[in-house]
Amino acid sequence: MVNGCPRGSDCGGCQMYGGPTVCHCMQVTEDQLVEALTTMNIRSVRDVRRLTGAGDGCNACHRKIQSYIDSHASTSISLTVCAAE
Ligand code: FES
Repeated sequence: MVNGCPRGSDCGGCQMYGGPTVCHCMQVTEDQLVEALTTMNIRSVRDVRRLTGAGDGCNACHRKIQSYIDSHASTSISLTVCAAE
């Protein structure tokens, strides 16, 4: 079994076991990365590396991780609204 795939496949497209693998070196899945991006204060690939381990191997996934940051990290930003007038 490769990456938990019951067919022994390493295609990365299977939606089981946390979705596609984003970082193959560190075995970090899309679900794990998106959860981290939406629950932690992550602003950079460096933050992703520090907090999830993704991207800590060959660096081939850094561009992909950056695209996830661009798509998901903004959802974790909380805006402070001033109620005083
Ligand atoms: S695939 Fe992510 S560090 Fe190698």
